[in-house]
Amino acid sequence: MTEQSNITSRVRDAYDKSADQYESAGQIIFHPLGKMVADLLELKPGERVLDLGCGRGACLFPIAAQVGTDGFVLGIDQAPGMVDACGADIEARGLADRAQVRLGDAQNFTVDQPFDALSAGMVLFLLPEPQQALACAAAALRSGGRLAATTFPTENGRLAAGWESAEILAEVLSTYLPAGVDDPWRLVLGLNGPLVSEESTAAAVLAAGFTDVEIRHVPARSRFESIDDYLDWTWTVTPRMQWELVPPERRTEATDAARTALRKLAGSDGSLEFSCPTRTIRAVR
Ligand SMILES: C[S@@+](CC[C@H](N)C(=O)[O-])C[C@H]1O[C@@H](n2cnc3c(N)ncnc32)[C@H](O)[C@@H]1O
Repeated sequence: MTEQSNITSRVRDAYDKSADQYESAGQIIFHPLGKMVADLLELKPGERVLDLGCGRGACLFPIAAQVGTDGFVLGIDQAPGMVDACGADIEARGLADRAQVRLGDAQNFTVDQPFDALSAGMVLFLLPEPQQALACAAAALRSGGRLAATTFPTENGRLAAGWESAEILAEVLSTYLPAGVDDPWRLVLGLNGPLVSEESTAAAVLAAGFTDVEIRHVPARSRFESIDDYLDWTWTVTPRMQWELVPPERRTEATDAARTALRKLAGSDGSLEFSCPTRTIRAVR
């Protein structure tokens, strides 16, 4: 297995397992971001949209609302659990006439008919080969079609200032990883690839065949009722890959250490409020 396919399958495994809890926990951070991605596309009723890494539909559902009954949105996700759960959500919301979801790798897909717009909410940073995903995205869009994506803002090989909660947790968990394993957090954050800075992100989008590229740094804040709520949430997203590598007999100790380290961000009521800035990408095919 190549290093790339190894990372892709580790990401698949982590999100597959968290699909059931992802929706409720994701409302805090991913729902507002998903709506923002949909709005960036400036959709018109009747348009056809492709949503890469759809997860539980944080982008897909606002998109379905905006394209209306004559429009269509197709979600692609590589985690079977996400595809099943999102498909069930589509049915439950009575949207099967305009929304579908299917299994697929965002780095390697083709479409039968070009789309008007394409979204990729918080998924590009998880891809070992984001430039391939951008090339597939460009090929899937009609001329003049729009791309909107969100990803983590990185600078100087780290997450941008503001994501202290994630940095603190990653730092604590890294000390519990068995010797010789690659730290998954460092592998998947886009810290070494083409998304490492705003400039390199813009260059990668241009190189894939897009024009009118706009990269923005969007400040945002989030709040969890307690540090434990936050730690539960981290099991439903990328840090799950780190948690699972902590030997089970050391997880209580690692949780205690994370709780202690995160206390400096907690308010007097015990809640955890932190900024969670995002990088947005907009471009035209
Ligand atoms: C952080 S979640 C974001 C989900 C959704 N877009 C949102 O904004 O809530 C990342 C999603 O991307 C999916 N994903 C990760 N790597 C992928 C790949 N190579 N191809 C397709 N989907 C992928 C995961 O399974 C997961 O559902």
